[in-house]
Amino acid sequence: MSQPNPPQSGPAAAAAESNRKLWGGRFAESTDQLVEAFTESVSFDRRLWRQDIAGSQAHARMLAGVGVLAAAEGEAIVAGLQAIGEDIAAGRFQWQQALEDVHMNIESALTARIGDAGKKLHTGRSRNDQVATDLRLYTRDAIDELADLLDALAEVLLQLAEREADTVMPGFTHLQIAQPVSFGHHMLAWREMIVRDRARLLDARKRLNQLPLGSAALAGTVYPIDRAYVAQQLGFEAVTENSLDSVSDRDFAVEFCAACSLLMVHLSRWSEELILWSSPLFGFVKLPDRFCTGSSIMPQKKNPDVPELVRGKTGRVIGDLQALLVLMKGQPLAYNRDNQEDKQPLFDAHDTVAASLRVFAAMLPSLQVERAACRAAAAKGFSTATDLADYLVNRGLPFRDAHHAVGSAVAYAAGKSCDLADLTLDELRRFSPLVEADVYERLTPEGSLGARNHFGATAPQQVRAAIARARNRA
Ligand code: ARG
Repeated sequence: MSQPNPPQSGPAAAAAESNRKLWGGRFAESTDQLVEAFTESVSFDRRLWRQDIAGSQAHARMLAGVGVLAAAEGEAIVAGLQAIGEDIAAGRFQWQQALEDVHMNIESALTARIGDAGKKLHTGRSRNDQVATDLRLYTRDAIDELADLLDALAEVLLQLAEREADTVMPGFTHLQIAQPVSFGHHMLAWREMIVRDRARLLDARKRLNQLPLGSAALAGTVYPIDRAYVAQQLGFEAVTENSLDSVSDRDFAVEFCAACSLLMVHLSRWSEELILWSSPLFGFVKLPDRFCTGSSIMPQKKNPDVPELVRGKTGRVIGDLQALLVLMKGQPLAYNRDNQEDKQPLFDAHDTVAASLRVFAAMLPSLQVERAACRAAAAKGFSTATDLADYLVNRGLPFRDAHHAVGSAVAYAAGKSCDLADLTLDELRRFSPLVEADVYERLTPEGSLGARNHFGATAPQQVRAAIARARNRA
């Protein structure tokens, strides 16, 4: 009698196949192909490989330290993971959908490489605390990267502000010409927004910088683990307090996407201004050709696609935040598979913000400011009417009366289609006898600007002082 062949099909074969899954012990049939494709995350979470390896190495060192693993096993795991990291970095690693996610791909490769010691790595942990750890490490790295990009962009704005401190442009309210401001002052206003954005990200970093590993599936583990040691290895400032919260909390991802959304809202507002300013109807700035694109039909077109796309991508990042909030809102404690859906929005927000910051920092230094056009616009629209009122107040007129007198003067000048500064002294004195010849220096955009000379205001002298303060703080 010949030996029976190993079963090729039927329940036994299915069980054999299924046993190849790291969790396959209790399963009698193999995973449906549709389910495998539907539930996998390795196609996108492989991006966490560095964090996953660092987390596993710290865990293995800890297990060896407390005697759960033999020292040699711990060393074999750490070295094996190192080699796997090199394979991944070199593009030599074979990612397998059947192994579901980044965690099981790396763990399987470890066992294939070092044998039984690899099977001990998962002692005392779960993918639930593992993925929470990986994601916190990832988000922390993302914050550090964005903080550096924000620093670089803030420096670009300081240099622009310095270059254009004396450039007069119209300041707007309701998009109507309001009062002259310094172009540099406007750049520093943009800078304030991203200084806050950076602080917001770093604030979120403080809260996320706690180690969830050791929470295991949800309740902790029976092994004598040393969480503080792992935390210290991975640069976490503390360990999380509660195992149930640790495996289910994604607040840090929400906070990150919220900070990214607000940051993008700021870039989107700048974009809107750049788009308006570069339109020939404004003509305040020219964007460098290499940052613009043309039209396939209209030969004359030079389109501000970069700011338009930044404005457009803002919607995506707000969508990423929305996705995370809605992802979380229905989840009972503790870990649910829903959470696998946290990664793509988080990665997308990170990528989109990083790319937007990079392109802005590259584009803005070559922003050509059309100073004459800015000044001409600043002189339009009775932008110094408030200065005339303030002039009268200085000579003793109550502000309300001054406001009324200047209003009448504006109506008169508008009737003559000229500006306040074009009226003769006699004409101006019809509205108030307090007007003297020295009024004209106050009616120029430069006079208006220079007169607003206190902390936080737009006088070029104050713009320079603000730049100096910013440099001292850095
Ligand atoms: N890929 C999973 C995720 O991203 C890892 C955790 C899976 N845990 C589990 N018990 N199935 O969330």
